[in-house]
Amino acid sequence: MTCACVCELLFVPGNVRCQDKVVKNCMKDGMIDDWDLFEKIIDYSYSKCLHTEPKYHPVLFSESPFNTKSKREKLVELMFEKYHVPAVYLCRNAVLAAFSCGRPTGLVIDSGAIHTSAIPVHDGYVIQSAIVKCPFGGNFISMQCKEFLAENNIDVTPHYMIDKKTIVKEKEKPVWIKKRTLPEVTDSWYNYMCNSVIQDFQHSVLQVSETPYDEKIVSTLPTSHYEFPNGYNQEFGNERFKIPEMLFDPSPNMGGSMLSMSHIVVTSAGMCDVDIRPTLYNNIVVTGGNSLIQGFPERLNRDLTARVPPSMRLKMISPNGSVERRFGAWIGGSIIASTGTFQQMWFSCQEYNEGGKGQIHTKCI
Ligand SMILES: Nc1ncnc2c1ncn2[C@@H]1O[C@H](COP(=O)(O)OP(=O)(O)O)[C@@H](O)[C@H]1O
Ligand SMILES: [Mg+2]
Repeated sequence: MTCACVCELLFVPGNVRCQDKVVKNCMKDGMIDDWDLFEKIIDYSYSKCLHTEPKYHPVLFSESPFNTKSKREKLVELMFEKYHVPAVYLCRNAVLAAFSCGRPTGLVIDSGAIHTSAIPVHDGYVIQSAIVKCPFGGNFISMQCKEFLAENNIDVTPHYMIDKKTIVKEKEKPVWIKKRTLPEVTDSWYNYMCNSVIQDFQHSVLQVSETPYDEKIVSTLPTSHYEFPNGYNQEFGNERFKIPEMLFDPSPNMGGSMLSMSHIVVTSAGMCDVDIRPTLYNNIVVTGGNSLIQGFPERLNRDLTARVPPSMRLKMISPNGSVERRFGAWIGGSIIASTGTFQQMWFSCQEYNEGGKGQIHTKCI
């Protein structure tokens, strides 16, 4: 068995009291930052999830295209020295996402939590010099939702604090009873629970308008009903289109001043060799959790059609299932790690012992 490990886990120590539960993420900007926490996640994965010993299985890691040389070396060293794995491979997550859609070449648009990037992949390798990134992702959208809810005095008390709630009519003041004995929790835990409520609202209600946001048009579109944990409920109309519009129209009057989704795709393709541009445009792979906002791929397709010369054939590949879209890198990893030809590519323990950790950069480009 080969195990593909996606290092995007959030670590919540399981068997500690609530007051000790500090919610932390070992990743920062898509790279491992807190190594002690990362080791805890690896230990937990082997003992509680995989129920196996590391020495029996090669490990494939997905990594950010911006991962640094020193972090790659540190990871390899950790896996060989502490876990005694037989072999390791590091692969850019965009390459894996493209593979998950059966494409060795394509322009991957990955909209995750912190940022959105357009990453050209050619024959299984990232064209590093043509990556374009903008700091708009799901966290930015969550922040906008949080502001919107606060401005409208909509309370986001999390589920764990609520004992009973009464059914109230739309927009009526919620009637609910707080649990009598609440565990003492850390601020990070409380914030995490509040953010979960905001994210659920974000995932359930938001939609990207098919055409650039127009107040009159969107007011004719169906609204979306949403009930918060405390029972407050409302139909959401225009705002559910207005909030994600910033991804596609980040002009100052929409609240931003960055590159739009279609702009980063076109800029990235424009920095690649003219010979491969048609293949890139013909294989645009949409991936990442934030691309799951309803209507995201359709609007991107529409905006790109307007930007790209008509002679260029555009084809967008966006897996329909939310799991496939969110965990494209994991799926691609599990596919390539099982192929026969991949077996000769692993960076083996023997190669590590003979040539050292620096070899990883030539084995895994
Ligand atoms: N169904 C959904 N609808 C809208 N946004 C979603 C959905 N599922 C996840 N997201 C958003 O996607 C982001 C996480 O995407 P992900 O690709 O897992 O992030 P990253 O790879 O950057 O860690 C979060 O900001 C989350 O709110
Ligand atoms: Mg992602």
